[in-house]
Amino acid sequence: MQFTIPGYPKESILVWLFLSQNNGLASAATLTLSYPTSMPTNAVLAPPNFVSVGFETGFFDNYANDFSENLVSSLAKRMRVPLIIRVGGTSGDRIRYDPDLPVAKKCIDGECPDGSSSSFVLGPKYFDKFKRFPNAQFTFQASLGKEGQANPEVSLPCVRQAWNAIGADRVAGIALGNEPSFFYDTENQYVNGAMNIQNAIVDALALKGDQAKLFEIADTLSNAAQTHRPYAVKEIFQAGYKDKHVKFAAEHYYQITGTDHPWDVAQLQAELMNHTAIVAKLKQHLESINFVKNKHSSVRYILSETGSALNTPLKWSAGFGATLWSVDFQIAAMTHNVKRVVDSGRPAAKHSSWVPDDSVADGDGPQVRALFMANVFVADFVGSESKSAILEANMNQDLLSGYVMYNAETGKRERLALLNLRAWDATTDAERGRQAFSVPVGNASSVKIRTLHADRGVFATGFDIGGTRNNVTWAGEQWSYLVDKGKGHFPARQPEEETITAENGRAVVKVPQSEAVIMSFT
Ligand SMILES: *[C@@H]1O[C@H](CO)[C@@H](O)[C@H](O)[C@H]1NC(C)=O
Ligand SMILES: *[C@@H]1O[C@H](CO)[C@@H](O)[C@H](O)[C@H]1NC(C)=O
Ligand SMILES: *[C@@H]1O[C@H](CO)[C@@H](O)[C@H](O)[C@H]1NC(C)=O
Repeated sequence: MQFTIPGYPKESILVWLFLSQNNGLASAATLTLSYPTSMPTNAVLAPPNFVSVGFETGFFDNYANDFSENLVSSLAKRMRVPLIIRVGGTSGDRIRYDPDLPVAKKCIDGECPDGSSSSFVLGPKYFDKFKRFPNAQFTFQASLGKEGQANPEVSLPCVRQAWNAIGADRVAGIALGNEPSFFYDTENQYVNGAMNIQNAIVDALALKGDQAKLFEIADTLSNAAQTHRPYAVKEIFQAGYKDKHVKFAAEHYYQITGTDHPWDVAQLQAELMNHTAIVAKLKQHLESINFVKNKHSSVRYILSETGSALNTPLKWSAGFGATLWSVDFQIAAMTHNVKRVVDSGRPAAKHSSWVPDDSVADGDGPQVRALFMANVFVADFVGSESKSAILEANMNQDLLSGYVMYNAETGKRERLALLNLRAWDATTDAERGRQAFSVPVGNASSVKIRTLHADRGVFATGFDIGGTRNNVTWAGEQWSYLVDKGKGHFPARQPEEETITAENGRAVVKVPQSEAVIMSFT
């Protein structure tokens, strides 16, 4: 079998599948990979601030603590530009400011206290929290009003408070509403409402020139990208939104939503740990992505709210299977020209990668979940030393994927990520097979391998939730509230990195089922 790498001359398309002789269960066919040794023209620049975290507006104050700051720093120190935190979501259209409120916030109606569709009154103590995360930047949301009554008199006081607390230098963007089709039936209504608030903010903050190109539009529902009903990014621009003040055009992405399923390993494999399913869903966004790229090239297309699966059990939506989904989804999105992926959090949400405190009644937090480790992996894959560019090493397989990262300044290939998405669960007696990849390494005598690993396989939830049987480590490091308050620690007391010796210009790496690795060439 032969697979293609886009942009590589046909004669030298070199991803071959060889069937090995003693093809036991555990040793599937070796995949012999190849890819351009220096950066091809169709490699996609990897945005240095691609990895991003998000906090639902009504719960931002819960996240503004040392623990979350440590987790954010663990990501930010792997990046060469500031990490961007999104503060937004459904509750962000249901807020108003009360300068006399003695507490940070008051939940006044909707799903109080911890649902996303609650309404909040916010006081000065809430906005003070924006002084936290000093090395990060923020995007925050201007309310468009939950009934579709965009009202500058309600929105502006909150915007001013956030702006002053964050400081102009750290404001990466101001979002105009969230999932607006819940309260604006048509794209024309959205354009009118959002432009009304946008213009009021430009005036109130006296934004001039480049500084006024600051707004994030759309933030449309996950399934709107698929159906274009009632509207997504493309329709909003077509309805006349001018890009003069628009910095980000955003859509939302949840891999699946569901209520009535077995939530077992087979479903995890078919719907989440499946590269083909991930790429198919990403392709639903291509119409918007390409429209922005071709017609509004000064605007960055982002996925501003993302998640594995809504309304599913924790070990399913935030366990190690979902962690590998997140790695593949984020990196695949990068190859499709998405400029940033926001990993979204709310203390009660089962798809969040950490819980900041013990505010949720059933006592889930504080805790770091397996999913957090995906963000660390992706940040390390993008790298911090220089500009990078990515190319998928396309294997045309549901359960294997690979990506090459080049140094965009020198053109050298620096890292290769390999994922074995075959679902493996330690509670079954199945052997944990391995996939061997034969990788060209040029004249390097050896390469280094770092591994994203869980002994327990797909349902490992992380140490904080499941104890020591549920550890999830990236290169020997794991993150935990109980052990390190989000700073990261090495259970075996040291980083783990394997050296593989190359022979005849190739290195053979064996990736166990339900595991991801980064191979470094330098
Ligand atoms: C992966 O997803 C695709 C598209 O939904 C589906 O056709 C395929 O059967 C899935 N593969 C596995 C192994 O479940
Ligand atoms: C190895 O290959 C690189 C890039 O092709 C080249 O710059 C370098 O000189 C080579 N080193 C040796 C020892 O051949
Ligand atoms: C899991 O992590 C904990 C906390 O660091 C550590 O004490 C324990 O030894 C680890 N367990 C295994 C099996 O590595």
